[in-house]
Amino acid sequence: MMSKTQKNRNNPTIENKQPKVTVLGLGSWGTALSHQLANCVDNCFLWGRDSGVVEAINSKQQNPNYLSTLKLNSKVQATTSLIDAVSEAEIIVFSVPAASLREVAKVAKNHANKNAIIVNTAKGLEAETLKSMVTVLVEEFGKKENISTLSGPSFAVEVSQGLPTAVTVASSSLPTAEKVAEIFHSQNFRVYTSQDIIGVEFGGILKNVIALAVGILDGLNMGANARAALITRGLAEMQRLVEALGGDSMTVSGLSGLGDLLLTATSDLSRNRRVGLSLSKGESLETILKDLGQVAEGVHTAPIALALGKKLGVKVPIIEAVNQVLLGKCTPNEAAKALLSRSRTSES
Ligand SMILES: NC(=O)c1ccc[n+]([C@@H]2O[C@H](COP(=O)([O-])OP(=O)(O)OC[C@H]3O[C@@H](n4cnc5c(N)ncnc54)[C@H](O)[C@@H]3O)[C@@H](O)[C@H]2O)c1
Repeated sequence: MMSKTQKNRNNPTIENKQPKVTVLGLGSWGTALSHQLANCVDNCFLWGRDSGVVEAINSKQQNPNYLSTLKLNSKVQATTSLIDAVSEAEIIVFSVPAASLREVAKVAKNHANKNAIIVNTAKGLEAETLKSMVTVLVEEFGKKENISTLSGPSFAVEVSQGLPTAVTVASSSLPTAEKVAEIFHSQNFRVYTSQDIIGVEFGGILKNVIALAVGILDGLNMGANARAALITRGLAEMQRLVEALGGDSMTVSGLSGLGDLLLTATSDLSRNRRVGLSLSKGESLETILKDLGQVAEGVHTAPIALALGKKLGVKVPIIEAVNQVLLGKCTPNEAAKALLSRSRTSES
Protein backbone atom coordinates (compact mmCIF):
# COMPACT_ATOMS: atom_id res chain seq x y z
CA MET A 1 0.00 0.00 0.00
CA MET A 2 1.26 3.50 -0.82
CA SER A 3 2.18 5.72 2.13
CA LYS A 4 0.58 9.16 2.45
CA THR A 5 3.93 10.65 1.44
CA GLN A 6 4.20 8.51 -1.71
CA LYS A 7 0.63 9.36 -2.68
CA ASN A 8 1.35 13.08 -2.36
CA ARG A 9 4.59 12.78 -4.33
CA ASN A 10 2.62 11.17 -7.16
CA ASN A 11 0.00 13.91 -7.07
CA PRO A 12 1.55 17.38 -7.36
CA THR A 13 -1.83 19.07 -6.76
CA ILE A 14 -1.79 17.87 -3.14
CA GLU A 15 0.40 19.83 -0.78
CA ASN A 16 3.34 17.61 0.10
CA LYS A 17 4.19 19.04 3.50
CA GLN A 18 4.26 16.42 6.22
CA PRO A 19 4.40 17.53 9.85
CA LYS A 20 7.65 17.07 11.74
CA VAL A 21 7.10 14.40 14.35
CA THR A 22 9.26 13.48 17.33
CA VAL A 23 8.83 10.50 19.63
CA LEU A 24 10.39 10.72 23.11
CA GLY A 25 11.47 7.39 24.62
CA LEU A 26 13.67 4.59 23.33
CA GLY A 27 11.72 1.73 24.95
CA SER A 28 9.39 -0.77 23.31
CA TRP A 29 6.58 1.69 22.74
CA GLY A 30 8.67 4.61 21.49
CA THR A 31 10.48 2.26 19.10
CA ALA A 32 7.27 0.68 17.75
CA LEU A 33 5.46 4.02 17.42
CA SER A 34 8.31 5.72 15.59
CA HIS A 35 8.47 2.79 13.16
CA GLN A 36 4.70 3.01 12.62
CA LEU A 37 4.76 6.82 12.24
CA ALA A 38 7.57 6.66 9.71
CA ASN A 39 5.07 5.02 7.33
CA CYS A 40 2.96 8.17 7.52
CA VAL A 41 5.42 11.10 7.58
CA ASP A 42 8.62 12.17 5.80
CA ASN A 43 10.83 11.90 8.88
CA CYS A 44 10.29 10.68 12.38
CA PHE A 45 12.74 11.70 15.10
CA LEU A 46 13.26 9.45 18.07
CA TRP A 47 14.85 10.76 21.27
CA GLY A 48 16.41 8.86 24.15
CA ARG A 49 19.26 9.24 26.63
CA ASP A 50 21.22 6.09 25.70
CA SER A 51 23.86 7.05 23.12
CA GLY A 52 24.66 3.39 22.29
CA VAL A 53 21.05 2.74 21.32
CA VAL A 54 20.87 5.99 19.33
CA GLU A 55 24.03 5.03 17.45
CA ALA A 56 22.68 1.52 16.71
CA ILE A 57 19.38 2.91 15.42
CA ASN A 58 21.12 5.38 13.10
CA SER A 59 23.76 2.96 11.81
CA LYS A 60 21.94 -0.41 11.81
CA GLN A 61 18.27 0.62 12.07
CA GLN A 62 17.97 -1.58 15.15
CA ASN A 63 17.27 -0.96 18.82
CA PRO A 64 19.46 -3.53 20.61
CA ASN A 65 17.54 -3.22 23.91
CA TYR A 66 13.90 -3.38 22.80
CA LEU A 67 12.23 -5.13 19.83
CA SER A 68 15.77 -6.00 18.82
CA THR A 69 14.80 -8.13 15.80
CA LEU A 70 12.89 -5.24 14.20
CA LYS A 71 14.53 -3.54 11.22
CA LEU A 72 13.37 0.02 11.78
CA ASN A 73 12.04 2.14 8.94
CA SER A 74 15.01 4.11 7.58
CA LYS A 75 13.05 7.37 8.03
CA VAL A 76 13.47 7.00 11.81
CA GLN A 77 16.39 9.17 12.94
CA ALA A 78 17.50 8.92 16.56
CA THR A 79 19.18 11.56 18.74
CA THR A 80 20.28 12.04 22.34
CA SER A 81 19.66 15.80 22.10
CA LEU A 82 16.25 16.63 23.52
CA ILE A 83 16.64 20.19 22.28
CA ASP A 84 17.21 19.07 18.67
CA ALA A 85 14.41 16.54 18.97
CA VAL A 86 11.69 18.97 20.03
CA SER A 87 12.73 22.39 18.72
CA GLU A 88 11.24 22.00 15.24
CA ALA A 89 8.65 19.33 15.95
CA GLU A 90 5.00 20.03 15.20
CA ILE A 91 3.91 16.85 16.97
CA ILE A 92 5.70 15.62 20.13
CA VAL A 93 4.84 12.11 21.29
CA PHE A 94 5.70 11.21 24.91
CA SER A 95 6.54 7.50 25.24
CA VAL A 96 8.69 7.52 28.37
CA PRO A 97 7.33 5.76 31.49
CA ALA A 98 4.93 7.78 33.64
CA ALA A 99 7.48 8.14 36.46
CA SER A 100 9.85 10.03 34.12
CA LEU A 101 7.37 12.02 32.08
CA ARG A 102 7.32 15.28 34.07
CA GLU A 103 11.13 15.36 34.23
CA VAL A 104 11.34 15.06 30.42
CA ALA A 105 8.44 17.51 29.87
CA LYS A 106 10.13 20.15 32.05
CA VAL A 107 13.12 20.26 29.68
CA ALA A 108 11.15 19.74 26.46
CA LYS A 109 8.75 22.65 27.09
CA ASN A 110 11.57 25.19 27.09
CA HIS A 111 12.60 24.28 23.54
CA ALA A 112 9.32 23.19 21.94
CA ASN A 113 7.36 25.22 19.45
CA LYS A 114 4.53 26.99 21.34
CA ASN A 115 1.95 25.53 18.93
CA ALA A 116 3.28 21.98 18.97
CA ILE A 117 0.69 19.28 19.52
CA ILE A 118 1.57 17.02 22.44
CA VAL A 119 0.55 13.34 22.42
CA ASN A 120 0.76 11.34 25.63
CA THR A 121 1.10 7.57 25.28
CA ALA A 122 2.24 6.67 28.82
CA LYS A 123 -0.26 4.82 30.99
CA GLY A 124 0.35 5.80 34.57
CA LEU A 125 -0.12 8.34 37.37
CA GLU A 126 2.27 10.66 39.21
CA ALA A 127 2.91 9.11 42.63
CA GLU A 128 3.30 12.30 44.68
CA THR A 129 0.30 14.18 43.26
CA LEU A 130 -2.04 11.38 41.99
CA LYS A 131 -2.13 13.38 38.73
CA SER A 132 -2.52 11.84 35.29
CA MET A 133 0.03 12.36 32.51
CA VAL A 134 -2.36 14.62 30.60
CA THR A 135 -2.67 16.84 33.69
CA VAL A 136 1.13 16.88 34.04
CA LEU A 137 1.49 17.86 30.36
CA VAL A 138 -1.15 20.59 30.63
CA GLU A 139 0.68 21.98 33.67
CA GLU A 140 4.04 21.91 31.92
CA PHE A 141 3.07 23.02 28.39
CA GLY A 142 0.16 25.29 29.31
CA LYS A 143 -2.12 24.98 26.29
CA LYS A 144 -4.82 22.42 27.18
CA GLU A 145 -6.19 22.46 23.62
CA ASN A 146 -2.85 21.22 22.26
CA ILE A 147 -2.67 18.18 24.55
CA SER A 148 -3.94 14.74 23.56
CA THR A 149 -3.63 11.15 24.75
CA LEU A 150 -3.44 8.03 22.59
CA SER A 151 -4.47 4.74 24.15
CA GLY A 152 -5.97 1.36 23.34
CA PRO A 153 -5.16 -2.35 22.97
CA SER A 154 -1.72 -2.13 21.38
CA PHE A 155 1.20 -4.40 22.19
CA ALA A 156 4.36 -2.76 20.86
CA VAL A 157 5.59 -5.99 19.28
CA GLU A 158 2.41 -6.42 17.20
CA VAL A 159 2.41 -2.77 16.10
CA SER A 160 6.06 -3.16 15.06
CA GLN A 161 5.07 -6.19 12.94
CA GLY A 162 2.33 -4.20 11.21
CA LEU A 163 -0.44 -6.38 12.65
CA PRO A 164 -3.91 -4.74 12.70
CA THR A 165 -4.41 -2.47 15.72
CA ALA A 166 -7.07 0.06 16.73
CA VAL A 167 -6.60 2.83 19.30
CA THR A 168 -8.30 6.04 20.39
CA VAL A 169 -6.85 9.53 20.58
CA ALA A 170 -8.59 11.98 22.90
CA SER A 171 -8.25 15.70 23.34
CA SER A 172 -10.54 18.35 24.81
CA SER A 173 -10.09 19.98 21.37
CA LEU A 174 -11.63 17.95 18.55
CA PRO A 175 -9.36 19.56 15.88
CA THR A 176 -6.32 18.42 17.88
CA ALA A 177 -7.65 14.85 18.19
CA GLU A 178 -8.48 14.85 14.45
CA LYS A 179 -5.02 16.09 13.52
CA VAL A 180 -3.27 13.41 15.60
CA ALA A 181 -5.60 10.71 14.26
CA GLU A 182 -4.94 11.82 10.68
CA ILE A 183 -1.18 11.57 11.15
CA PHE A 184 -1.12 8.21 12.96
CA HIS A 185 -3.91 6.51 11.05
CA SER A 186 -3.12 3.87 8.44
CA GLN A 187 -4.77 0.70 7.24
CA ASN A 188 -3.27 -1.46 9.99
CA PHE A 189 -3.23 1.23 12.68
CA ARG A 190 -6.74 2.57 12.97
CA VAL A 191 -7.17 5.67 15.12
CA TYR A 192 -10.57 6.69 16.49
CA THR A 193 -11.18 10.10 18.10
CA SER A 194 -12.79 11.14 21.37
CA GLN A 195 -13.16 14.28 23.44
CA ASP A 196 -13.42 12.32 26.70
CA ILE A 197 -9.80 12.71 27.71
CA ILE A 198 -10.42 11.46 31.27
CA GLY A 199 -12.27 8.33 30.12
CA VAL A 200 -9.64 7.45 27.52
CA GLU A 201 -6.61 8.13 29.70
CA PHE A 202 -7.89 6.46 32.87
CA GLY A 203 -9.10 3.34 31.04
CA GLY A 204 -5.50 2.74 29.95
CA ILE A 205 -4.10 3.53 33.39
CA LEU A 206 -6.46 1.43 35.53
CA LYS A 207 -6.62 -1.68 33.36
CA ASN A 208 -3.00 -2.46 34.29
CA VAL A 209 -3.98 -3.00 37.93
CA ILE A 210 -6.89 -5.26 36.98
CA ALA A 211 -4.51 -7.21 34.68
CA LEU A 212 -2.25 -7.82 37.70
CA ALA A 213 -5.28 -9.19 39.56
CA VAL A 214 -6.24 -11.47 36.66
CA GLY A 215 -2.64 -12.73 36.42
CA ILE A 216 -2.73 -13.61 40.14
CA LEU A 217 -6.09 -15.39 39.76
CA ASP A 218 -5.00 -17.37 36.70
CA GLY A 219 -1.79 -18.33 38.50
CA LEU A 220 -3.96 -19.78 41.26
CA ASN A 221 -5.89 -21.82 38.63
CA MET A 222 -9.24 -20.46 39.73
CA GLY A 223 -10.85 -21.12 36.36
CA ALA A 224 -12.44 -19.36 33.39
CA ASN A 225 -15.64 -18.41 35.28
CA ALA A 226 -13.62 -16.56 37.90
CA ARG A 227 -11.48 -14.81 35.23
CA ALA A 228 -14.58 -13.53 33.39
CA ALA A 229 -16.09 -12.35 36.69
CA LEU A 230 -12.89 -10.56 37.75
CA ILE A 231 -12.51 -8.78 34.41
CA THR A 232 -16.14 -7.64 34.54
CA ARG A 233 -16.00 -6.47 38.16
CA GLY A 234 -12.63 -4.83 37.45
CA LEU A 235 -14.25 -2.95 34.58
CA ALA A 236 -16.94 -1.77 37.02
CA GLU A 237 -14.22 -0.35 39.32
CA MET A 238 -12.65 1.42 36.36
CA GLN A 239 -16.03 2.89 35.38
CA ARG A 240 -16.79 4.10 38.92
CA LEU A 241 -13.42 5.84 39.17
CA VAL A 242 -13.73 7.42 35.72
CA GLU A 243 -17.21 8.76 36.56
CA ALA A 244 -15.99 10.18 39.88
CA LEU A 245 -13.14 11.90 38.03
CA GLY A 246 -15.60 13.54 35.61
CA GLY A 247 -15.20 11.18 32.64
CA ASP A 248 -17.85 9.16 30.83
CA SER A 249 -18.24 5.54 31.98
CA MET A 250 -19.34 4.63 28.43
CA THR A 251 -15.82 5.48 27.20
CA VAL A 252 -14.52 2.73 29.50
CA SER A 253 -16.51 0.22 27.39
CA GLY A 254 -14.47 1.26 24.34
CA LEU A 255 -11.00 0.49 22.96
CA SER A 256 -9.05 2.36 25.63
CA GLY A 257 -10.92 0.67 28.49
CA LEU A 258 -12.49 -2.73 27.87
CA GLY A 259 -10.38 -3.26 24.73
CA ASP A 260 -7.09 -2.69 26.52
CA LEU A 261 -8.28 -4.55 29.64
CA LEU A 262 -9.09 -7.68 27.60
CA LEU A 263 -5.71 -7.53 25.89
CA THR A 264 -3.68 -6.92 29.02
CA ALA A 265 -5.57 -9.29 31.31
CA THR A 266 -5.66 -12.29 28.99
CA SER A 267 -2.44 -12.31 26.94
CA ASP A 268 0.87 -13.54 28.32
CA LEU A 269 2.57 -10.83 26.25
CA SER A 270 1.32 -8.45 28.96
CA ARG A 271 3.95 -7.56 31.55
CA ASN A 272 1.33 -6.71 34.17
CA ARG A 273 -0.40 -10.07 33.76
CA ARG A 274 2.99 -11.83 33.92
CA VAL A 275 3.84 -10.02 37.18
CA GLY A 276 0.51 -11.30 38.61
CA LEU A 277 1.22 -14.86 37.45
CA SER A 278 4.66 -14.80 39.09
CA LEU A 279 3.28 -13.33 42.34
CA SER A 280 0.83 -16.23 42.57
CA LYS A 281 3.79 -18.63 42.40
CA GLY A 282 5.19 -17.00 45.54
CA GLU A 283 8.02 -15.10 43.85
CA SER A 284 9.02 -11.78 45.45
CA LEU A 285 8.05 -8.57 43.69
CA GLU A 286 11.66 -7.43 43.72
CA THR A 287 12.86 -10.55 41.86
CA ILE A 288 9.95 -10.42 39.39
CA LEU A 289 10.65 -6.81 38.44
CA LYS A 290 14.39 -7.45 38.18
CA ASP A 291 13.79 -10.39 35.81
CA LEU A 292 11.26 -8.39 33.78
CA GLY A 293 13.76 -5.59 33.10
CA GLN A 294 10.99 -3.38 31.71
CA VAL A 295 8.37 -1.09 33.17
CA ALA A 296 5.15 -2.75 34.46
CA GLU A 297 3.09 0.39 35.05
CA GLY A 298 0.39 -1.46 37.05
CA VAL A 299 2.82 -2.00 39.95
CA HIS A 300 3.33 1.78 40.28
CA THR A 301 -0.31 2.58 39.55
CA ALA A 302 -1.88 0.21 42.13
CA PRO A 303 -1.16 2.28 45.28
CA ILE A 304 -1.92 5.56 43.47
CA ALA A 305 -5.26 4.22 42.15
CA LEU A 306 -6.16 3.06 45.67
CA ALA A 307 -5.32 6.50 47.10
CA LEU A 308 -7.42 8.08 44.35
CA GLY A 309 -10.35 5.76 45.19
CA LYS A 310 -10.11 6.75 48.86
CA LYS A 311 -9.88 10.44 48.00
CA LEU A 312 -12.94 10.25 45.74
CA GLY A 313 -14.94 7.92 48.03
CA VAL A 314 -15.08 5.17 45.37
CA LYS A 315 -15.09 1.49 46.35
CA VAL A 316 -12.24 -0.37 44.62
CA PRO A 317 -11.98 -3.79 46.32
CA ILE A 318 -10.00 -5.46 43.50
CA ILE A 319 -7.46 -2.64 43.38
CA GLU A 320 -7.25 -2.84 47.19
CA ALA A 321 -6.60 -6.60 47.07
CA VAL A 322 -3.82 -6.15 44.49
CA ASN A 323 -2.17 -3.60 46.78
CA GLN A 324 -2.30 -5.99 49.73
CA VAL A 325 -0.48 -8.64 47.67
CA LEU A 326 2.09 -6.16 46.26
CA LEU A 327 2.88 -4.95 49.79
CA GLY A 328 3.22 -8.54 51.02
CA LYS A 329 0.40 -7.94 53.54
CA CYS A 330 -1.41 -11.05 52.36
CA THR A 331 -0.77 -13.99 50.05
CA PRO A 332 -2.50 -14.22 46.64
CA ASN A 333 -4.72 -16.97 48.10
CA GLU A 334 -5.73 -14.84 51.08
CA ALA A 335 -6.49 -11.89 48.79
CA ALA A 336 -8.72 -14.08 46.58
CA LYS A 337 -10.54 -15.44 49.67
CA ALA A 338 -11.06 -11.92 51.04
CA LEU A 339 -12.61 -10.81 47.73
CA LEU A 340 -14.89 -13.87 47.60
CA SER A 341 -16.10 -13.40 51.18
CA ARG A 342 -17.27 -9.80 50.64
CA SER A 343 -20.94 -9.40 51.49
CA ARG A 344 -23.54 -9.90 48.76
CA THR A 345 -24.50 -6.72 46.89
CA SER A 346 -26.28 -5.49 43.73
CA GLU A 347 -24.31 -5.63 40.46
CA SER A 348 -24.48 -1.92 39.61
N1 LIG B 1 5.06 -1.54 25.37
C1 LIG B 1 3.82 -1.40 24.97
O1 LIG B 1 3.28 -2.28 24.31
C2 LIG B 1 3.05 -0.15 25.30
C3 LIG B 1 1.87 0.11 24.61
C4 LIG B 1 1.15 1.26 24.91
C5 LIG B 1 1.60 2.13 25.90
N2 LIG B 1 2.74 1.85 26.56
C6 LIG B 1 3.17 2.80 27.61
O2 LIG B 1 4.33 3.49 27.15
C7 LIG B 1 5.15 3.84 28.28
C8 LIG B 1 6.57 3.35 28.01
O3 LIG B 1 6.49 1.94 27.97
P1 LIG B 1 7.56 1.02 27.25
O4 LIG B 1 6.90 -0.28 27.03
O5 LIG B 1 8.19 1.69 26.09
O6 LIG B 1 8.65 0.88 28.44
P2 LIG B 1 10.08 0.17 28.35
O7 LIG B 1 10.36 -0.35 29.71
O8 LIG B 1 10.11 -0.76 27.19
O9 LIG B 1 11.07 1.39 28.03
C9 LIG B 1 11.14 2.53 28.81
C10 LIG B 1 12.19 3.44 28.15
O10 LIG B 1 12.12 4.71 28.77
C11 LIG B 1 13.46 5.12 29.06
N3 LIG B 1 13.44 6.06 30.18
C12 LIG B 1 13.09 5.86 31.46
N4 LIG B 1 13.25 6.99 32.17
C13 LIG B 1 13.70 7.92 31.32
C14 LIG B 1 14.07 9.30 31.45
N5 LIG B 1 13.99 9.94 32.61
N6 LIG B 1 14.51 9.94 30.35
C15 LIG B 1 14.60 9.31 29.17
N7 LIG B 1 14.28 8.03 28.97
C16 LIG B 1 13.82 7.35 30.04
C17 LIG B 1 14.19 3.83 29.39
O11 LIG B 1 15.58 4.01 29.26
C18 LIG B 1 13.60 2.92 28.30
O12 LIG B 1 14.29 3.10 27.08
C19 LIG B 1 4.50 3.19 29.51
O13 LIG B 1 3.76 4.15 30.21
C20 LIG B 1 3.57 2.13 28.92
O14 LIG B 1 2.44 1.90 29.73
C21 LIG B 1 3.49 0.74 26.30
